[in-house]
Amino acid sequence: MPNDSNAAANGHSAEDIRWMTKAIELASQGRGKVEPNPPVGCVLVRDSICIGKGYHQRFGGPHAEVEALSDCDDASGATAYVSLEPCCHHGKTPPCADALIRANVARVVISVVDPFDQVDGGGIERLRSAGIEVITGVAKEEGEELLAAYLKRVLTGMPWVIAKWAMSLDGRIATKTGESKWITGPSARSAVHELRASVDAIAVGMGTVLADNPLLTVRLPKPTKIATAAETDAKTANNSGPLVRLVYSRSRVPDLQSQLVQTASQTPTWLVAGPEIATADLARLADHDVETWQCETIDPVEMVRQSLLWLGSNDNPRGLAMTHLMVEGGSQLLGSFAAAGQIDEVHAFIAGKCIGGHSAPGPVGDPGIKTLADATSLRMSRMDSFDNDVRLIYRRQIAATETT
Ligand SMILES: NC(=O)c1ccc[n+]([C@@H]2O[C@H](COP(=O)([O-])OP(=O)(O)OC[C@H]3O[C@@H](n4cnc5c(N)ncnc54)[C@H](OP(=O)(O)O)[C@@H]3O)[C@@H](O)[C@H]2O)c1
Repeated sequence: MPNDSNAAANGHSAEDIRWMTKAIELASQGRGKVEPNPPVGCVLVRDSICIGKGYHQRFGGPHAEVEALSDCDDASGATAYVSLEPCCHHGKTPPCADALIRANVARVVISVVDPFDQVDGGGIERLRSAGIEVITGVAKEEGEELLAAYLKRVLTGMPWVIAKWAMSLDGRIATKTGESKWITGPSARSAVHELRASVDAIAVGMGTVLADNPLLTVRLPKPTKIATAAETDAKTANNSGPLVRLVYSRSRVPDLQSQLVQTASQTPTWLVAGPEIATADLARLADHDVETWQCETIDPVEMVRQSLLWLGSNDNPRGLAMTHLMVEGGSQLLGSFAAAGQIDEVHAFIAGKCIGGHSAPGPVGDPGIKTLADATSLRMSRMDSFDNDVRLIYRRQIAATETT
């Protein structure tokens, strides 16, 4: 939460920071529902009073500025606090910069400048050309924190990667015989299902498919009242479509009797396959509705990079870029993601158990690093406790463009 001394250091007033914090809070309500769009919030203020507010609520729906303008009768002379630079292009909706100009606002305060190439300062330029005062970079760190996944996708073309694992107090994700069900208790496992419900896709390696025969669906506790169809959909699919299950395999394919293959007709299941897997094996999987994308490389780290570019593009079978991918292990696949520099967020669930044994795996396997300077460095974001387990969440910081 920004304070007055930060405000003075950045040259932004405490009032601007207070209203921007409100806009960012509103924006966060759209997270998980608007992707691949960014979550954005807007507050309209006149004489220190909020006269309208809104946020981008669903993919394809009105943007935050339009929601806020329709929440007030007359915005003339007001200040608009927007967590991301207003757009200046025709996408699924008309440009928000034009809507603010038409509404006669006097001032626009922005947290993060949008690096998306069809905006990239263009919204600011258009507002200034219309004689509107524009200030940027207000509560920028908080704005970037909320927009991190969007910023990563726009800047790199790849989805934000959440690595999730459950481990013992002594850092093992399975026993030396490979047993891992269950390290944590039911409450922690429910939190994993909530996390699954908020991402576009979950990935595992072939080792996990063989060891655990996982289902990888969202299984949340039954609601206490009868849920409407819309509520049920919201819990099992974000606005961009249902959860996709991804299996990374370089040489082996999942058994046709595995739970993933047997349920592929109900829940999208895609194989990220190495180039050497036989076409006949892939055809058998296709007969069971498993879609395959074959990498050009067998190199595990390069395979991660290529697959992320594919998932972050509109060329994947869903036809819409993915913003959040969760990798649920095991340690070899997570080792490749770490070596590719592609772990952006970690949810480490830690149970009050010690497993021991040199051969019992840790969460992130080969190839590993030689010097600490090469370690994936993330910032502490949150800590939750569930009965006798805890969850630590660490995240990467992503900076957008410089303040304009
Ligand atoms: N506690 C937890 O949170 C947790 C979570 C998951 C798993 N586990 C446990 O972990 C163990 C399995 O771990 P694991 O490390 O053997 O399995 P894994 O990481 O799930 O799978 C490794 C296999 O995936 C394939 N693969 C395809 N692309 C890859 C890439 N780019 N990088 C790395 N591997 C790639 C390779 O097999 P091919 O070359 O043959 O295709 C590789 O042998 C099991 O005991 C399981 O119960 C625990």
